[in-house]
Amino acid sequence: METLIPTINRLQEVFLTVGAEVVQLPQIVVVGSQSSGKSSVLESLVGRDFLPRGSGIVTRRPLVLQLVNVAPLQERLKNENGRRTLLVISKLDLMDAGTDALEVLLGRVIPVRLGIIGVVNRSQHDINTQKSLEDSMRDEQAYLQRHYPSLASRSGSRYLAKTLSRLLMHHIRDCLPELKTRVTMLSAQYQARLNGYGQPVEDHSATLLQIVTKFASDYCNTIEGTARYIQTSELC
Ligand code: GDP
Ligand code: NA
Ligand code: MG
Repeated sequence: METLIPTINRLQEVFLTVGAEVVQLPQIVVVGSQSSGKSSVLESLVGRDFLPRGSGIVTRRPLVLQLVNVAPLQERLKNENGRRTLLVISKLDLMDAGTDALEVLLGRVIPVRLGIIGVVNRSQHDINTQKSLEDSMRDEQAYLQRHYPSLASRSGSRYLAKTLSRLLMHHIRDCLPELKTRVTMLSAQYQARLNGYGQPVEDHSATLLQIVTKFASDYCNTIEGTARYIQTSELC
C-alpha cells in the first residue's frame, strides 16, 4: 500500500496533464440518500488508515473526492450495477429499542456481492460537542461488541477501511493489463503524430516514450508486489 499510493498519485498526475478521460483510474462512487451518512463514512475513511500517512509527500493527492449529481451518476453506474457494490449500513445506533439489523447485516434481506458492513459514526450532537474521530471509533467498537458480538470483528469503520483498501488493490491489479495496453497505444499514437511533423530538432518523443515505459514498468512491479502482499495478508 505504501508504494502503491504514490504510484497511483503519479499516474493521476500524468493523466490529469494528458487529459482526464484518456485512462480510467480506479474509482469509488458513494451513493445514498441525503443525510444517510455518506460524508460521515468518507470522513471516517480518510481520517483513518484507509490511506497511509507519514512525513513528506505520502498522500498529496490521495483521493479525488468528486461530487456528482444523481443523473450523470446513473450514466456511470448502469453497466456495473450490483457487481461492484458494497453496502454500508450507517446509523446502527438509531434503531428502535428492541430491534436490530442482524438479518440485514447477515445478507439475508439484501444480498450484496461485496458484502454488507454496519457502522456507527458521530451523531450531530457528537459533532456539535466536537467529539474526536478516535473517541467515535472507540465507542463504535464498544457498541458493536455489545449489540452485534458475533459480527463485531467484521463491522465498523476500521473494518470498512480495510475492506475498501483490499478491494481497491484488487481492482487496480485487475485494471493493470488494460491500462498498460492503453498507455502503450497512446504513446505510439503520439509518437506517430510527432513523426508526422517532420524531422525533429531533438528527439523528445523518445524521451517521453522512455518515461512512459519506465513508468509502466515501475507500476507493474508495484502491482505485482501488491498482489503478493494481498495473497499473504488475506489469510489474516
Ligand atoms: P450525508 O448527507 O449522507 O453526507 O450525511 P452526513 O454524513 O452529513 O450525516 C447526516 C447526519 O447524520 C449528521 O448529523 C451526522 O452527524 C449524523 N450521522 C451520520 N452517521 C451517523 C451514525 O452512524 N449515527 C448517528 N447517531 N448519527 C449519524
Ligand atoms: Na447531510
Ligand atoms: Mg454529505
